[in-house]
Amino acid sequence: MIYLDNAATSFPKPEAVYDTVYTFMKESCANPGRSSHKMARESAACVMKTRDSLAELFNIKNPLQIAFTPNATYALNMAIQGLLKTGDHVVTTAMEHNSVLRPLYELRRKGLISYTIVKPRTIYGDIDARDILRAVRYNTRLVVVSSSSNVTGTVLPYRELGEYLKKRRIHYLVDASQGAGVLPLDVESMQISMLAFPGHKSLLGPQGTGGLYVADNIKLRSIFQGGTGSRSFETIHPSFMPDMLESGTLNVPGIAGLGAGVDFILKTGIDEIRKKKQLLIDRLHERLSGIKRIKLYSKPENNSSIIALSIEGIDSSEAANILDSKYEIAVRPGFHCAPLAHKELKTESTGLIRISPGYFNTLDEIEYTADSLIEIANRQD
Ligand SMILES: Cc1ncc(COP(=O)(O)O)c(C=O)c1O
Repeated sequence: MIYLDNAATSFPKPEAVYDTVYTFMKESCANPGRSSHKMARESAACVMKTRDSLAELFNIKNPLQIAFTPNATYALNMAIQGLLKTGDHVVTTAMEHNSVLRPLYELRRKGLISYTIVKPRTIYGDIDARDILRAVRYNTRLVVVSSSSNVTGTVLPYRELGEYLKKRRIHYLVDASQGAGVLPLDVESMQISMLAFPGHKSLLGPQGTGGLYVADNIKLRSIFQGGTGSRSFETIHPSFMPDMLESGTLNVPGIAGLGAGVDFILKTGIDEIRKKKQLLIDRLHERLSGIKRIKLYSKPENNSSIIALSIEGIDSSEAANILDSKYEIAVRPGFHCAPLAHKELKTESTGLIRISPGYFNTLDEIEYTADSLIEIANRQD
């Protein structure tokens, strides 16, 4: 199988990720932070090691300001629902995933908040930073922006907003689901106050991992309360990080594997990873440009490694089924949990075929994928 669905979950992982999960589960899989025996200490050290690696990758001064979550959706909900209060206004974009949109819809349905959704200016989903800043109001408490679109791969202006928002004392949440492990993300220089990330996409960790960085001047209401191993006699959930956002037993084998994934990225270098992915999407874009019946919704520049396209006369799901059954190529069709993006791109009836190469894909696989797509498009005659 040629796996080109890395924007959903990356596959394969570096060998060290498999080895680390296996070894950890076999040798020291105790509960961290609950006991002081040797195995529990080893487990806690392993969790801390992954926090340290993530802090290095995102330039986070204090690794304890990172909480582990099961995925990016939990992290985004914790940030959005934990921060907003009655009367707050939020600015976000039409390119966001339902993990951002649905919590906002829910808070508005309850009559608590209002929001403004900034529209893209092109069919690639380009968002202009000035449109986001223009939408800010006197009661805006939060701006939420993805680092890049999970439909088209287009990089959003997440690097350009932090300084202005900080001056206006507006919290700034970046959904780094598509960018973490591919795009530069530096919470200090970009003045990002909260960063939500999945562990299972380009950070190359196992499913069931993710996290939320919260700047130390932000206190979130914890949407889960429970055991933390700390302050057990207090009836109120701890308000210090990471316990504030880490209730219950952590996914320690997953976190161990995530650490190995992040270490692979640190060793290889974001620039090198980006260069490899760029080579793949440049070639795919080049091969598919100008082909009759194929319409491209991604441009290769300023892209986190996605080529989205439609084939005239064929639904995206049907095309993906043919790619799977006849050519053994895995891609994702449909709407990618990003309904507003598809409305803006006018693809809400057929969806798009999303091809998302990962670091381990090869140029040969890209050539074969391009040949297969062209064959499918030609069959529509
Ligand atoms: C931009 C974006 N945000 C949020 C998510 C949700 O991530 P998770 O599945 O880890 O909750 C995704 C997943 O595809 C995504 O692409």
